[in-house]
Amino acid sequence: MPEDMNINAVRDSFRESLAGASTLQELDDIRVKYTGKKGTLTTLLRSLGKLPPELRKSAGQELNTLRDEIEQDLQAAGRKIRDAENERQEISERIDVTLPERGRKAGAFHPVIQTMHEIVNIMQGLGYSVASGPEKEEEYYNFECLNVPSWHPARDMQDTFYFADGTLLRTHTSPVQIRAMHEYGAPLRIVCPGKVYRRDNDVTHSPMFNQMEGLLIDKDVPFSVMKGTMSEMMNAFFGKSLRYRFRASYFPFTEPSMELDIECVECSGHDEHCRVCHGTGWLEVAGMGMVHPNVIRAGRIDPDKYNGFAFGIGLDRMAMLKYGIGDLRLLFDGNVSYFMSGFEGAGKC
Ligand code: PHE
Repeated sequence: MPEDMNINAVRDSFRESLAGASTLQELDDIRVKYTGKKGTLTTLLRSLGKLPPELRKSAGQELNTLRDEIEQDLQAAGRKIRDAENERQEISERIDVTLPERGRKAGAFHPVIQTMHEIVNIMQGLGYSVASGPEKEEEYYNFECLNVPSWHPARDMQDTFYFADGTLLRTHTSPVQIRAMHEYGAPLRIVCPGKVYRRDNDVTHSPMFNQMEGLLIDKDVPFSVMKGTMSEMMNAFFGKSLRYRFRASYFPFTEPSMELDIECVECSGHDEHCRVCHGTGWLEVAGMGMVHPNVIRAGRIDPDKYNGFAFGIGLDRMAMLKYGIGDLRLLFDGNVSYFMSGFEGAGKC
């Protein structure tokens, strides 16, 4: 073997670089360096012809052996790297099914929304559909069509949020009565849950609160259907047969008008210190009445052919009563953890 063809030195340097390689890319670089087109080994093989003929054969054999060796070593090293990589990946993706679960935070409906869903469900069972209207409303729908004359105190700036352009934040869901009559005509059965706004802010009043309007228009609707519908709804919502009473009242858009009181859901009238009914035994939950002919007319329906009844329920109050929430403001202060911890004892804080 000639001096300049030091095969052992090539082998040694190859082994050295192989030992230092840890990625497939590095292996590839080594392959190119030794057995590539311009690689050390390839160059040596090409120069075999320059050797004296008696040395060529053994040198050729040695070089070919080294080339095979290099290829095998590279392959083996490649396999090793790939195996290690696979193992690493497998370990990183392994799931330990014996670990305890991290715990899930269940979402929950706001009690007012839940109340709304429950009452809508009950009313759908009685054949009512859900209608809606804008919260930023025109005076015309909010007052005029509802037989609320311009001198009525409800129109006062003290009670109503007005915009500069004369529109307002609806003070009740009743304007949807008119919008629904315009849209669907008679006969008609709708409920409309939604936000309403008044210039009120104290322990029992919030400037924004939730109502549900109901409207039934048909031929020869008797007063008793209204009473039956209301008591049916309350019994279904509270899950028990409650005593109720209708008190004569006044709304410009209904005649006659009534307010509905239900038996106190907390004490049933047996606790004179009851924090919910303050010892009266009764809770006021809704306003209602037979729709005023002027309102039916404003809805473009003939009041000589059709009549009906309408009601408005305070959804916040219903939620507080059903879920024992003592302070109206808790419903709006966004403290989610309060509701996540359940309603138990909520009324007492
Ligand atoms: N709109 C009335 C209120 O906000 C409630 C009501 C609705 C009364 C429908 C009668 C009929 O107090």
